[in-house]
Amino acid sequence: MSKEAVLQFYESILNSEDLKIKFRAITGLPELINLGSGSGYVFNQEEIAEASTAYAQENRKIENGNSQTGLFKKPNADFSPKLSHFYHYEFEFSEIPGFEEIAAEIEKLKIKPSTVNMQLYEESFRKEDFNFASISPDSPEFKQQYDEIMKQCFDPNIPLPKHEYTQHQFHLINLDLHVNHSLYEEYLMTKIRLLKLLEKFFGLEIKFSGSLWYPPNAYRLWHTNENQPGWRMYLIDFDEFESNAENKAFFRYMNPHTKELITIDDKPKLIRFFKVEQEEDKLFWHCIVNGTKFNRWSFGFFVPDNWMDTFLHHI
Ligand SMILES: [Fe+2]
Repeated sequence: MSKEAVLQFYESILNSEDLKIKFRAITGLPELINLGSGSGYVFNQEEIAEASTAYAQENRKIENGNSQTGLFKKPNADFSPKLSHFYHYEFEFSEIPGFEEIAAEIEKLKIKPSTVNMQLYEESFRKEDFNFASISPDSPEFKQQYDEIMKQCFDPNIPLPKHEYTQHQFHLINLDLHVNHSLYEEYLMTKIRLLKLLEKFFGLEIKFSGSLWYPPNAYRLWHTNENQPGWRMYLIDFDEFESNAENKAFFRYMNPHTKELITIDDKPKLIRFFKVEQEEDKLFWHCIVNGTKFNRWSFGFFVPDNWMDTFLHHI
């Protein structure tokens, strides 16, 4: 076990098309450790952190030399002028000819890992956190509540909880953190098949950004994702759904220009695009709440800025 094993594994990814697509299909450290060990490279989280610093420094040197290597080229963050007034786009699976195979793979990804402690998940629900989605990031009371909620993440003296779903801002299940259950191998294979279909559909390189299960009353509180700018695509679905139910599942964001809160009710089989910005006056504050009594899944992807050129050809 060593930092060198991580670096050797990164090198082997660069030399293997099979490993490259697997790398684009995974998001969590447990998944990376699992993928490495399947290829004979044994390392732990600390060694990944050490190696990533070394790798980033090395890559910076390469980029300065204008060489185009790297495990994944981040989409560039320039906003096309013609899109500047739009902050999100939504489509239904059924509106997109040729999306049927993709929809079929999504169906198989809607898993509930047995390693999730559902009792602990339910006990970790906090009404005041759930209600925080109603406070605008532009309002005077926002900052104090936000700092309180995020203290757990930013204060090094407070240890992060062992389970992601017990954090204040993150009351949901990150499927990619659960690799020790009977469905994981098939789940990973499905993610790879889905990624291949999406890359063929768009004609572009795509990477998973996160695979999230929102059980009833799950929420992801206000955040900006500013450390990873660029376009995101989310494929969203439910197990069951009542369109007229009083309690909704929704995606809410603040228009960075007008500061208006925009709430978009979720529905099954939805494709959502939005753009994450890094500049202070363009930050894309957003949050997600599943207030329904049903399970919601969302599968997120980094998509290159020109996604729309190819996507609209299909419609
Ligand atoms: Fe986000």
